[in-house]
Amino acid sequence: MDIDNKFLAGPFAPWAEENEAYDLDVEGRIPEDLAGALFRVSSNPRFVPLDLDRYHWWEGDGMVCGIYLREGRAAYRTRWVETDSMRVEVERGEAVYSGFANGGGTPRPLPPGAPPGKNVANTNVGIFDDHLLVYFEGGLPYSMHPETLETYGTYDFHGGVDVLCTAHYKIDPGSGDMLFFAATGPTITWLRAEAKTGAVIDSHSFDITVPVLMHDFAVTANHAVFFVTPAQFRLDHIMAGKPGVVWDEKSLPHGVQIVLLDRRTHTVTWHEVGGHWANTHFYNAYEDNGRLIIDGHRITRLGTPADQLDTPPSSHSWFPPAIPHRWTINLATGTVKEERVSGLAGEFPKINDDYTGRRHRYGYFVTTRGISRDIMSDGLAKHDYLRDTTVVVDGPGPLTSPSEPVFVPRADTIAEDDGYLLTLWWNRETNLTELLIHDAADLIRQPLARVKLPSRVPFGFHGSWADHAVLDHAITQQNQH
Ligand SMILES: [Fe+2]
Repeated sequence: MDIDNKFLAGPFAPWAEENEAYDLDVEGRIPEDLAGALFRVSSNPRFVPLDLDRYHWWEGDGMVCGIYLREGRAAYRTRWVETDSMRVEVERGEAVYSGFANGGGTPRPLPPGAPPGKNVANTNVGIFDDHLLVYFEGGLPYSMHPETLETYGTYDFHGGVDVLCTAHYKIDPGSGDMLFFAATGPTITWLRAEAKTGAVIDSHSFDITVPVLMHDFAVTANHAVFFVTPAQFRLDHIMAGKPGVVWDEKSLPHGVQIVLLDRRTHTVTWHEVGGHWANTHFYNAYEDNGRLIIDGHRITRLGTPADQLDTPPSSHSWFPPAIPHRWTINLATGTVKEERVSGLAGEFPKINDDYTGRRHRYGYFVTTRGISRDIMSDGLAKHDYLRDTTVVVDGPGPLTSPSEPVFVPRADTIAEDDGYLLTLWWNRETNLTELLIHDAADLIRQPLARVKLPSRVPFGFHGSWADHAVLDHAITQQNQH
């Protein structure tokens, strides 16, 4: 493949095999109370993309990696998500669909009955309603067996979601319900799916006037929070072979707006922040004493500028480093205050998910301090919002490019940071991947354990932890089908 495209080279390069291995080599000790599975999904193109220059990281086929931990031992398995669109390409033995981010190539003729667009199923993965679901915001999630990783087909929340939904769902820590949305053009549909049944029990659609690339959002106990920014997702451009991810400042003459949906009344309010920038991901949001606080990362631009659609810049140049920010809305006056939390660039912000919608003290992310050409990230960070301090640790030895940190609380824990941080790192020397387990409360360079995978997991986006009770229940349920 063309190594001029960062997203097809080095640690981003596709890994052509599905793998499994048991009793993995471990340096250090896997904590005995860490029992369950870490699921992550990679962006891993199965066939050579139609346009090598314009191929973007967001367009690779989803390959799920399950790392199963129990009694201090580790096993793992990787399998592609066999979407309907992937099956079309497998039958042809080559790429058929073009890219959507950057206008990547002319699609090959589709056979009768083939999906008109590709569901790359590459963005997030987690267990809900006893299904291991793999998400992509351009289509429905796909369901896989949580142990064999066999793909079953699309999952529509028992008829509650018809076309697509976000990959960035949140789980309500009280009820276990899924809080999420669907974004189609300028229409946002807020959704809540019940933990017990998987059925959608609340929904409300509203118009935000522009087709924002609504990748992530935040929730509080009373509100869902959406940012309206110049980053757009243009299906009409994709159909015309042009870049689908577009930066259009003229569409927002008053700059960025925050839209709040009141979860109790479905009332929608707009709150002006101003300026032209975009969000990548959020840590969390919560309400405190008449204020609504949102923590997330902000970038100066995203996507092909609207006036350069016929000569798009390379994928790498339109995605600058993201900086941690906090937005505070005064719920009485509606005004917004914006603050830069630190100057430390980074991505993939996360919290202890038990604090979703509640006041959190700690945020975890991976740093992008000095991105060299071949890596994704260069350190693991923990920010303390109370003390306004950030700790960053580098990888031990040749390890670099940690993945999004996943926080796993210890059983019967009380302190917010009493748990483990799970990250996948790329070992430059072996060209393989390792799972690192750090003590989140005492974040130091040396992890508690280095779990050595006998393959490389290409860089991907998001994932989650399923504890043994949730995992075992889902496996039992799926085995009965
Ligand atoms: Fe994301």
